[in-house]
Amino acid sequence: MKQCLILLFIIFFINELQAKPSSNLGLPNINFDTSGAIKQDKVNIIDLLTLKGTSTVLSCDPIFSSEGAKKEAIWYKDGSKIAYVTGERNAVYENRTLNFNSTIPQVGFLILANIKMEDEGDYWCLRKDNGQIGEISRIRVSYMTQLEDNIELVATPSRPYEGEMVEIECAFTDAFPAPAVNWFFNGSILPTRVNYVVASNASLLIYHYSIADMGFYECKLTNFAGTTQAGVTLSLPLSTSIQSDSLQQQTNDILQNSTLMFFIGCLSTACLILIYLFGGMIWYRFSNRRPCHGRISLWQSILRADPALAPGFRKVVAPMSAHPRLLQTDDI
Ligand SMILES: *[C@@H]1O[C@H](CO)[C@@H](O)[C@H](O)[C@H]1NC(C)=O
Ligand SMILES: *[C@@H]1O[C@H](CO)[C@@H](O)[C@H](O)[C@H]1NC(C)=O
Ligand SMILES: *[C@@H]1O[C@H](CO)[C@@H](O)[C@H](O)[C@H]1NC(C)=O
Ligand SMILES: *[C@@H]1O[C@H](CO)[C@@H](O)[C@H](O)[C@H]1NC(C)=O
Repeated sequence: MKQCLILLFIIFFINELQAKPSSNLGLPNINFDTSGAIKQDKVNIIDLLTLKGTSTVLSCDPIFSSEGAKKEAIWYKDGSKIAYVTGERNAVYENRTLNFNSTIPQVGFLILANIKMEDEGDYWCLRKDNGQIGEISRIRVSYMTQLEDNIELVATPSRPYEGEMVEIECAFTDAFPAPAVNWFFNGSILPTRVNYVVASNASLLIYHYSIADMGFYECKLTNFAGTTQAGVTLSLPLSTSIQSDSLQQQTNDILQNSTLMFFIGCLSTACLILIYLFGGMIWYRFSNRRPCHGRISLWQSILRADPALAPGFRKVVAPMSAHPRLLQTDDI
């Protein structure tokens, strides 16, 4: 008999669930128990950003006026009834103990004390006698997961050379709403320098790293719930001697190469001049061949010395008699 009753009760409960009207009365996309509600053109949704551990008070507009003072209303969270109020009595959500001392007037407020993450959702009240719905408070809990103290930002490269580009990635933390990013250098706001660019992904880009850029870089994340930060120290730019050494080597190579090319050029020019001169000589000798007598071949005649091609000046040799004339006074 008892089991039968339970079964009946379950069937009744299921029927009750299905009996809920499905029309949404032109309301926003919320899971709404509209059974006692009247049709309303517009229900405002108010976004409320709250903090964990704080308290907030929601007012039930349909009974807030003096006309509604004695009326009853039901508070809902995401479509479930959570509390009953009247125009002269507040409700405290989940009977939590209030963590504040100020007295709140009894006008049908829903008091959310010591807010937790699970309290996120849509809250509204419904006036029992006329089905009027108050505005919907969409509660989001803002939070910021603190970065650990020993966390160090990632700089790429971690030990930059002089003139190199460095990217410092800001740390990621779980937070709502998305935090704003601010960069600090040596404890104060990032100086405006042409070589500092904060990219859209929050990375700090340092172009042409130099000694002036060495120091402590800090990325600070801030949102409604608070702030957290992490940093990294960039050291003196790496001595560029290794780079300049290899640069020297390269320039040396290039220089040696060019010297070699120069000598090759000189040599080939000299060779060309020699060939030209030699060719000219051969051509001259060929066209001005001295008559040769029998045994001398053409080849030999070309190679034979020619006084016309002899270098230098020509000695004029005057013919002399075998007996040199002496000036004698007798003869005169
Ligand atoms: C809160 O307290 C009231 C009155 O003491 C009680 O009727 C109600 O069931 C309690 N609600 C919760 C969620 O504990
Ligand atoms: C509220 O007041 C009481 C004494 O009146 C005090 O002990 C308590 O710390 C106060 N609480 C807060 C949250 O201010
Ligand atoms: C961030 O953006 C910069 C510039 O657009 C890019 O060079 C860098 O790789 C990005 N970093 C990450 C971690 O995505
Ligand atoms: C930043 O701090 C570092 C380390 O304390 C220091 O060497 C450097 O000179 C500072 N740079 C500027 C621009 O203050």
